[in-house]
Amino acid sequence: MNIRPIKVDDLLGMQACNLQNLPENYTMRYYLYHALTWPSLSYVAEDPKGRIVGYILAKMEEDVGADDQPHGHVTSISVLRSYRRLGLAKKLMVQSQEAMATIYRAAYVSLHVRRSNRAALSLYRDTLGFTVKDIEKKYYADGEDAYAMKLSLTP
Ligand code: ACO
Repeated sequence: MNIRPIKVDDLLGMQACNLQNLPENYTMRYYLYHALTWPSLSYVAEDPKGRIVGYILAKMEEDVGADDQPHGHVTSISVLRSYRRLGLAKKLMVQSQEAMATIYRAAYVSLHVRRSNRAALSLYRDTLGFTVKDIEKKYYADGEDAYAMKLSLTP
C-alpha cells in the first residue's frame, strides 16, 4: 500500500471512504479547503490499482490565541475495514505529524475522538503517545462526549 500527499483528484475517493467509515461527514468544499490551504498535511493510502483505502484530513489551527502555540489538528482519519490492522493509520498519522512540525513549526497536534471509539483511542494513546486533555460533553451530533487529545511535536 502506498501513502502519498493528497491531490484534488483524490477528494471524491476520500469522501467515499469517510462516508463508509464515520458518521462525521464533510462537504466537498471543506475537503477542498484542507487540500488547497495545507496540501502537505493530508495523505491517502492507495492500493496497487490506485484506489483510496484510507486517508488523513488535517489542518493547522488558525485561531491561535496570544498564549497558545501554532498547532496542527486532525480533522478526520479512517481506513476501509478490510485494510485495517496493517499499520496504515499509524503511517498516515506520522506523515502528517512530521509535516506539521517541519513545515509549519507546530508545537503539538490535537484531535477529538468519541469516548466509545476503542480502536482509535488505542491508536492515539497507546501507539502514538497522545494524552487526554479534556472531555467535551455532547461534542458529537448524537450527544456522545469527545476526548480532546494532544501530542507534543517538539523534541
Ligand atoms: N482494537 C484495538 N487497537 C487497535 C485497533 C482495534 N480495532 N485498531 C488499531 N488499534 C491500535 C493498535 O495498537 C494498533 O497496533 P497493532 O496493530 O500493532 O496492535 C495501532 O492502533 C495501529 O493500528 P493501524 O493498523 O495503524 O490502524 P488502522 O489502519 O487499522 O486504522 C482506525 C485505525 C483509523 C481507527 C480504523 O479502525 C478506522 O478507520 N476506524 C473507523 C473510523 C474511525 O474511527 N476514525 C477515527 C475517528 S477520530 C478522528 O478522525 C480524529
